[in-house]
Amino acid sequence: MSLIAGTLNRVRAKVGRPPAAKPFSALSQHRSIKQHEMLGTMLGIRNPFFRSAEGPEGRMTLIDGKPCLNFAWCDYLSLSQHPELTAAAKAAIDRYGTCVSASRMVAGDTPLHRQLEQELAGFIGVDAALVFVSGHAANVSTIGTLMGKGDLIVHDEFVHNSAVVGMRLSGAEARSFRHNNLDALEAILREERMNYSNVLVVIEGLYSTEGDIPDLARVVEIKERYGAWLMVDDAHGCGVLGPTGRGIAEHCGVDARKVDIWMGTLSKAYAACGGYIAGNRELIEILRYAAPGFVFSVGLPPAQTAAALAALRVLKREPDRVERLHKNGALFLEEARARGLDTGRSIGIGMLPIMVGATTRAAKMVTRMYERGINTSLIIYPGVPMNAGRLRFFLRADSTAEEIRTAVQVAKEELQRC
Ligand SMILES: Cc1ncc(COP(=O)(O)O)c(C=O)c1O
Repeated sequence: MSLIAGTLNRVRAKVGRPPAAKPFSALSQHRSIKQHEMLGTMLGIRNPFFRSAEGPEGRMTLIDGKPCLNFAWCDYLSLSQHPELTAAAKAAIDRYGTCVSASRMVAGDTPLHRQLEQELAGFIGVDAALVFVSGHAANVSTIGTLMGKGDLIVHDEFVHNSAVVGMRLSGAEARSFRHNNLDALEAILREERMNYSNVLVVIEGLYSTEGDIPDLARVVEIKERYGAWLMVDDAHGCGVLGPTGRGIAEHCGVDARKVDIWMGTLSKAYAACGGYIAGNRELIEILRYAAPGFVFSVGLPPAQTAAALAALRVLKREPDRVERLHKNGALFLEEARARGLDTGRSIGIGMLPIMVGATTRAAKMVTRMYERGINTSLIIYPGVPMNAGRLRFFLRADSTAEEIRTAVQVAKEELQRC
């Protein structure tokens, strides 16, 4: 609050008159949106956000009426139009209706939910799983439930917003370490471990703005040595990393049981909606009865539950989808490097960034790519550090080599033009 506003409020309090409620347009959040819109108009940059996706999801789709090659959605295994998923979703609606209308704890628990959780846990290689209405809710609720005052959370600086919101909710102290710098992680634990009751380390399996991964074996070794729990947000790794898509544990050859808390989403490789937490029986029992985003929120709709279950079964039966996704990533990386494009630290699996730099340059470039029929997503501050703007390309199992070469070539040309 400014000095003047503070003084005014104190005077009003003395004369017994409360200040009027501010219009929302006076809030800094709203002013900032308007400033960005004005800047975009001045620079002739079309708003790159909230474009209307009008065609069916797939390699090609209609964006604001224009057919585009689609690299903006995380349909990694090309399952969102798969007939088994759409049939399972329709059959679930016919049997259970469109909604379970209540928290699963009190009313809406269907056999589909149980089946999905059992199969997810088996696939990951742990005892049990619990499905939430979104991955965001899963992270917020789980961290907020398990951690509290007197505890410490040590996290990679690039963990997702949902983990950060969960940390704030928990009331625990939070310390971040430089991205993937495990010496820094260890230094914090060495210095701080003895001062806290419970300590949780939070990392991701595949970082969604970088396309890189942690050294999971070393993180496990460190957390065991310092008596901490480890939570891995594998939202982008599940269905993507490892020869059969079991995620970062499979990719790194680590036993999944060595990680205390697995988090994943059903909205990317599984082509549905929802999120899950997986781990040992006791962890899941706690969350089933105590996580507010589960207990006080509606259960996942039947259609989404059935679609995710069908996706998991297709993935188990057809691991070659993962192989094709990996081949496409390797090709993208090779083509980008051959053209001198900067793909940062990406390992070339699932998603790849092309580094651009200044926000306005990145925003211009994503607009020009769209004009040339390539739909990608724009990642700028605060999603990444200032002046580290980039375009993000999500790869798909069914992209063709020609489509990938075209996308990289157009990116090269437009980067030169911007
Ligand atoms: C790393 C990460 N964690 C969690 C989430 C949240 O998942 P959901 O989209 O299911 O809410 C996302 C979504 O983008 C994510 O990228």
